Amino acid sequence: MSEHAPRAVVTAGTGGIGLETALGLARQGWDVTLVGRDAARGEAAVSRVDGAAGRRAGRFVRADLSSLAETRRLGERLAGEGGLGLLVNNVGGMWTERWEGPEGIEGSVVLNHLSPYVLTEALLDPLAAAAPSRVVNVTSGAVAAAQAVFDDAEPPGPHYGLAATGRAKLAHLAHTVELAARLRPRGVSVLAADPGAAATANAAEMTMDILPPPMRPHWELILKGVSAPVASAARAPLAAATDPALEGRTGVVVGPEGTLDDTLLAFVTPELTEAVRGWTAKLLAAAGRSS
Ligand SMILES: NC(=O)c1ccc[n+]([C@@H]2O[C@H](COP(=O)([O-])OP(=O)(O)OC[C@H]3O[C@@H](n4cnc5c(N)ncnc54)[C@H](OP(=O)(O)O)[C@@H]3O)[C@@H](O)[C@H]2O)c1
Repeated sequence: MSEHAPRAVVTAGTGGIGLETALGLARQGWDVTLVGRDAARGEAAVSRVDGAAGRRAGRFVRADLSSLAETRRLGERLAGEGGLGLLVNNVGGMWTERWEGPEGIEGSVVLNHLSPYVLTEALLDPLAAAAPSRVVNVTSGAVAAAQAVFDDAEPPGPHYGLAATGRAKLAHLAHTVELAARLRPRGVSVLAADPGAAATANAAEMTMDILPPPMRPHWELILKGVSAPVASAARAPLAAATDPALEGRTGVVVGPEGTLDDTLLAFVTPELTEAVRGWTAKLLAAAGRSS
């Protein structure tokens, strides 16, 4: 790693869309910290990042981001290292079976919303110290299928992965827009990036049961979508992270083509943002009591 290179952190950076994003950043001269759980996958990813950069540009840091306590510790560690030019909150996904993180909160809410929320808060000062800097929050077209109810930790009725992830991503998108306004005076831009569907490990785990029954006839279409190459899905996060044309743009969404696309922003209303703010605060307080 070079003391002159700009520094980036990519969560879930050792595989899937995160690794492809990290490779693209390394080719553009960034030093990249890759966060993941598995050391062997981490070391393999670091050597690919070094290969893409033609120098030592990668570093693996182990953390399980399904634990908010562990995410907080990661944030403290990274914050102690000085200025940070880019944070890519890529961790997230969609699961067929409902699961919970160690703090007892439903897993898709933890990985798609609360964990990136907590990590970003911990890194605000290093991001501001490196301004102009960017936060990129990886979102999903699943937002369009969200059950947009934020009265309780989970909405009533059965759990379907698509709706659960859509709701968590919608919450994070509302937070993205709000955070963008808050950080504008500090020179930190906050953008969302929708990678579109891609053939990643997480996509391969999904079964038709992610869909509410009326949507199941569309399963074949979804399978076709998630056969797309992973490298092309990194176009959106890479553009959001580095496109000079986006300099100064904040609170915007970069779509799968790597260009601005406000389709998903139509789901974010002031009422929804306020509901998400209160709901998030309650969940974080409950998580704090349990850890
Ligand atoms: N794939 C799609 O079709 C699609 C579509 C729209 C949006 N997205 C979004 O794109 C982002 C990346 O998705 P992906 O499909 O590339 O996911 P993925 O295949 O699950 O990504 C794998 C990466 O996630 C890491 N990871 C998984 N769980 C982790 C945890 N608890 N803590 C830390 N790292 C963890 C893995 O490392 P370890 O296993 O070693 O921890 C590995 O680096 C997500 O936010 C997802 O919602 C994906």
